[in-house]
Amino acid sequence: MRVVVMGPPGAGKGTQSTRLAKAWGVPHVSTGDLLRQAVRQGTNFGRRIEHLLNSGCLISDESMAEILKGRLGRTDCRRGFVLDGYPRTERQAQDLDEMLAGMGASLDWTLLIEVAAEVLVQRLSGRRLCPSCQTIVHVDQLPPGDAERCQNCGTMLVTRADDEESTVRRRLAVYEEQTRPALEHYRRQGKLKVTDGRSTPNQVYERLVSIVQAAHR
Ligand code: AP5
Ligand code: MG
Repeated sequence: MRVVVMGPPGAGKGTQSTRLAKAWGVPHVSTGDLLRQAVRQGTNFGRRIEHLLNSGCLISDESMAEILKGRLGRTDCRRGFVLDGYPRTERQAQDLDEMLAGMGASLDWTLLIEVAAEVLVQRLSGRRLCPSCQTIVHVDQLPPGDAERCQNCGTMLVTRADDEESTVRRRLAVYEEQTRPALEHYRRQGKLKVTDGRSTPNQVYERLVSIVQAAHR
């Protein structure tokens, strides 16, 4: 299964991609996670992009193509992947088609999760991330009174540097200007499947699974 998950910041791409990848036995490839990892490791590239990442601006298409090509070329992606956070521009959508064609493969579906902007700001202001196992939660899901620890591995949870409200609003604007037009690429190819992301994570997950099952019939 080769699937792209798209949607605005906070739509639930990471939450759903993790579950879908586990169910299908393929890796969850998140370009945001790969970039944050480069920043944490303090690589030259990580130092160069840190301010872009923290301010909600996009990294160049050329750099992203290089990173993704390296990741999709690894053996664990041979049987497929769930790709989250890429493409974000029309150019990246074309680059992905070319990359996959070079591997003798093609994309099955692009799943778009739609959620209104007001809900997204509320979701992101309460998001916490486990820096160790990448588990994503909302503070409302944590047991009351406890320190903010990952329920999966016990590590202290962190807040993402780009989840401050003004940065979230910039990320939403960048999505509307640069990423939403790229959806047309998949609409033209007949590969775009849209779902409403406002219900519970379980309900959204069930819908995404049914969409893909129906598409394969
Ligand atoms: P990236 O990490 O991809 O961030 P994003 O697209 O802004 O999306 P988020 O990760 O914020 O949200 P999400 O949709 O994954 O939601 P989540 O599941 O966490 O990219 C970050 C930055 O990296 C970019 O700004 C850019 O600088 C750079 N970058 C990355 N890829 C790039 C590329 N290809 N080109 C150039 N630059 C790139 O959920 C959010 C919250 O909501 C959580 O608290 C969760 O618990 C909660 N939640 C989830 N689902 C539900 C639900 N159904 N109901 C209620 N709450 C829910
Ligand atoms: Mg994410």
